[in-house]
Order: sequence, then C-alpha cells, then structure tokens
Amino acid sequence: MIPPKARAKGKKLKESVRVPWRTRCEADLRAFTDADAIRFWSIAHQVDGEARPIFNYRFEHTLAAVKLGRWLCPQVNADLDIVECALWLHDCRKKLKDPLTKDTHALDASAEVSEILQGTDFPQAKIAAVRHAIEHHVGLKLTKKLSPIETACVWDCDKLSKLGAASLIHFGCISGGFQPITTEDILLRSEAWLELCRVIAASMNTLPGKAEAERRLAFLCAHYQQLGNEWREPLEAPSTNPLKSPVR
Ligand SMILES: [Fe+2]
Ligand SMILES: [Fe+2]
Repeated sequence: MIPPKARAKGKKLKESVRVPWRTRCEADLRAFTDADAIRFWSIAHQVDGEARPIFNYRFEHTLAAVKLGRWLCPQVNADLDIVECALWLHDCRKKLKDPLTKDTHALDASAEVSEILQGTDFPQAKIAAVRHAIEHHVGLKLTKKLSPIETACVWDCDKLSKLGAASLIHFGCISGGFQPITTEDILLRSEAWLELCRVIAASMNTLPGKAEAERRLAFLCAHYQQLGNEWREPLEAPSTNPLKSPVR
C-alpha cells in the first residue's frame, strides 16, 4: 500500500506536469484552423518542410479577441481565466465557407471545451462558465445586455475584434478567398459595413467596450473616407507656382 504522504506527493507531481491551459487552447486552435485554412485556400506555402496557409483568418481573429479580453477583464472585474479561455475556444470548430452545414459553431465549440482542457491546469469549476460564454457569443446585435459579466466580456471582445485597424488587415487578407476583390468593391461594401459597425458599437455590454467600439468606429469612418478620397477623387498635383508653395 502507498503511504498517504507518498500518495499526496505523487498527486502533486501529477498536477505539476499538467499542460498549461493556454498552451493547449492555442495549440488546438492552431491545428484545427491551419488545416481548415489550407482546405479553404486549396493551396499552401511550404515553410521549413511544413504546409502553411496563405492566411489563417480564424486564428488571427481569435488572437485579436484574446488580446482584447486581457485588456477588458481587469477594468470590469471579470474572471480572466473564464473570459480568455472562452475567447481562445469560441470559434475553435468554425470552418470557413462551409455552406453544406448549418452554422452551429457556438454549440460545436462548447461541446469540445472539456475534452480540449482535459489534462490541463484549467480549474474544473470554471468550465461551465466558459461554455456559457461560448454559447452566447454569436450575432452582431444585442437587444439586451448579456450576463454574467464574463459572458458579456466575451461578446464584446469578439465584436471589438471586428472593428479597428487589425480587422481591416484580417478582412483584407481573407476576402479574396471568398470572391474576386477590387478596391472599388471594398469601397462599395464599406457603407453597409459601417452601418453594421454602428449596430455593433450600440450593442456593447460593457462601458470600456462601448468606449473602445466608438473609437474604432471613428477610425473606420476616417479610413474609408480617406480611401474614397484617394480612389474616387483625383488628388491635386503639387503646385509648381512658387507663390502657392508651402512656407518653409
Ligand atoms: Fe463565432
Ligand atoms: Fe469570433
């Protein structure tokens, strides 16, 4: 029989070799989304003998949302373990352009949580809250605020990641995979998208989330305004008249 002291030591040792949950979440997401991105693009780059997708939209979007979670949680006293874990996994089984199947990606992701976290140091008692947040993250509009605060934060961070500078990169890099793209197409779609962004900003659950959404919305408006100026209005040629030159 193993003496209780040795058993306790063994248990402690087993706990100490548990995989850090962030490492597991990131690795699981990376593996699934890289494979899906390669399927979506039907082409891959070879990097050091490994197939790498042209652009892994899902992973980049998730990383943006995780960064936002780390920023938002301390401001609203939300549990960062729950919010960050839910953000890492909220789209973990979502495929790009998969018209054959119904979109059940929130429920699909929630169903995977326990298995992905198995053998990690993630607190078992927080798993239900992670699943709740994942199951309620979908949609671009809210008619009433979400609760608890962790579920509210996950919604806000997921949506904030669709606004702002990084979102322009992410959408710009993926959109050519869905259809041929021109600068004019992007401008034509921008008005409808900005309308939707206003709806997203108005739906924010948290005050810091709302303030950040307003800042990002203002940036997006300025960006598309500038794009329109460059693309549709001919720029004035620099003046050769010394009287019109800027004062030195
Ligand atoms: Fe999602
Ligand atoms: Fe998402």
